[in-house]
Amino acid sequence: MERRLQELRRLLDEHSHRYYVLDDPLISDGEYDRLFQELLAIEKEYPHLVTADSPSQRVGGAALDKFVQVEHRIPMLSLENAFDDQDLFDFEDCLLRYLLTEKKPDYMAEPKLDGLAVELVYEDGILVQGSTRGDGTVGEDISAQLRTVSAIPLRLKRLDISRLEVRGEVFMDREGFEALNRWRAKVGEPLFANPRNAAAGSLRQLDPKITARRPLRFFVYGVASPVDTGCKTQQEVLEFLADQAFPVNPEIVHCPDIHRVIRRFSELSDLRHELSYEIDGMVVKVNDFVLQERLGVKARAPRWAIACKFPAVQATSKILEVHFQVGRTGAITPVAILEPVDVGGVMVSRATLHNGDEISRKDLHIGDTVLIQRAGDVIPEIVKAVPEKRQHSAVPVRIPDDCPVCSHPLQKPEGEAVTRCVNPYCPAQRLRSLVHFCSKAGLDIDGLGKKSVEQLFTEGLIKDLPDIFSLRHEDIAGLDGWGEKSAEKLLLGTMAAKTPLLARFLAALGIRYVGEVTAELLERSYQSLEKLQSVTREELLEVEGLGEQAANSIVDYFSDPAVQEMMRKFHRVGVHPLEVAGKEENLPLSGEVLLFTGTLKKISRTEAKKLVKENGGQIASGITRKLTCLVVGEKPGSKLKKAQQQGKKIITEDEFLEILNGGRGFS
Ligand code: IVH
Repeated sequence: MERRLQELRRLLDEHSHRYYVLDDPLISDGEYDRLFQELLAIEKEYPHLVTADSPSQRVGGAALDKFVQVEHRIPMLSLENAFDDQDLFDFEDCLLRYLLTEKKPDYMAEPKLDGLAVELVYEDGILVQGSTRGDGTVGEDISAQLRTVSAIPLRLKRLDISRLEVRGEVFMDREGFEALNRWRAKVGEPLFANPRNAAAGSLRQLDPKITARRPLRFFVYGVASPVDTGCKTQQEVLEFLADQAFPVNPEIVHCPDIHRVIRRFSELSDLRHELSYEIDGMVVKVNDFVLQERLGVKARAPRWAIACKFPAVQATSKILEVHFQVGRTGAITPVAILEPVDVGGVMVSRATLHNGDEISRKDLHIGDTVLIQRAGDVIPEIVKAVPEKRQHSAVPVRIPDDCPVCSHPLQKPEGEAVTRCVNPYCPAQRLRSLVHFCSKAGLDIDGLGKKSVEQLFTEGLIKDLPDIFSLRHEDIAGLDGWGEKSAEKLLLGTMAAKTPLLARFLAALGIRYVGEVTAELLERSYQSLEKLQSVTREELLEVEGLGEQAANSIVDYFSDPAVQEMMRKFHRVGVHPLEVAGKEENLPLSGEVLLFTGTLKKISRTEAKKLVKENGGQIASGITRKLTCLVVGEKPGSKLKKAQQQGKKIITEDEFLEILNGGRGFS
């Protein structure tokens, strides 16, 4: 048994390395999952055989109470900045003067990733600790969180190095960041301002299971003490690390002289927009470790390295006023209204202030002159105020005590950054819930777009979700902008929406932390709304893939008397989410995980998804490991290419329909 266990771990490590690091998988996701399940089954039976480097440890263990501090054996330094070519020439001059030589060194030029620096400690080849940089001397132990990052090896190829401290950057790429924010918008959580904050927020989760669900990536860029590796140069260290299964950024370039460094910087300035992740500059390192050693460290930065920074897209403007938006779950988001200003070719007149803590940290006042920054495509942000230009009478920006819409006192739970309106009757939240309920992410009700919902709400025709189903023709047909036809269309839309799939209905309700994916987990595990209404927290925690936050939120939601009354009202107006049959093995799509791309001609996306579920299949969230088949319509995008590269099964819309009609098998 132990032998098989070792074999499984070796296989899983190798395939995960091929998938996450080399981007060159050899086996299908299904095969990988089978190996993983086998490993879990054996470890469940023989818990004493579970080891720290087992791939099973990547799913995230128990939540921590707090982060423990760890001291770095060798401090994690920061870097001085260079802003132009002259700074780089000066950097080299300094080196030569310090080394008392005229022989110019060679360099490594590495993209400077905008993420979080971490240290990984390997003892006898096994990852024993991972930590944040902290203040450079003392960081926080985030071992459990880092183990969930798939690209970080849990064991090295070489087990004979007694201790190795590896350093690198954990980050989120643009695609992962956008997907995460889309999800957060759906479940009513405040958005992350940029990939860096998203990566930091994901790593600093006390519950590693949450980290495990975040799309974090990793690139290694060095070791704390190169002598431990026997390597003579930074280039050799990177090769050594790549051999040990670490992901090394392929854009790292060896530069024989400073002129090549300068050219590489301008290449990278052009290339940066094509990279899948954000970089904020380039790190230049003297390649030779003997020289590095001789150059040493001054204050907090080494003499042998420098960071060339890209000029940020910044401009100054003025805070005219601050609006406080109330989200669907009551989260208050302060938004600064600015004097319109051109920032790198885009007119900016609003910037998010995130939350109260962020406002105090930046000490913002109404009327302040502020530095605005736009990094990539992300929401513009206020970097800082210019207090010298502040009027004496300027009032500090502060989160109001009461909800700007319903005047209910706001709450800010201890330890959380977000302030919330907890009044379930708050009109702002109600309206947003209504809009969400009818939108594509919800029941996708034909004829009930955002504008129409707002109008019906303002007219007092719909006050809560079930009201949507009691609308009458005569109520709507006479309203501004409505006629017989549009009223008819709306009523047909609401009729059709009375028997939604359970998962869709759950996602539409807008329960905190219950987006499309969690809603489907719930549908699969409970099959009916009735069962779900009486489920306990402990039962929910048994559901694979469902976290503690979601479990608490679901129980709180269904135990709220107002919600219970709303459910009875849904029943009275004839809304009956479809009960789902238990696991069926012999439906045409049993065991299949599908995704649609391109324009479908014969059926709508919503219908297609409904058909998949009714026929025993599941919908993938993207081109993921789990995906078994991609259905392509007209004009498919990049998903097709990605699926082809990964050797996924690909079928047309007609073939899909044929399978459902029993015309052909699924293979
Ligand atoms: S070397 C002594 N290499 O930049 C050298 N740092 O100010 C210090 N960073 O917080 C680190 N990419 O997270 C190095 N290829 C790279 C890097 C890199 C990003 C970050 C690092 C650190 C900051 C240094």
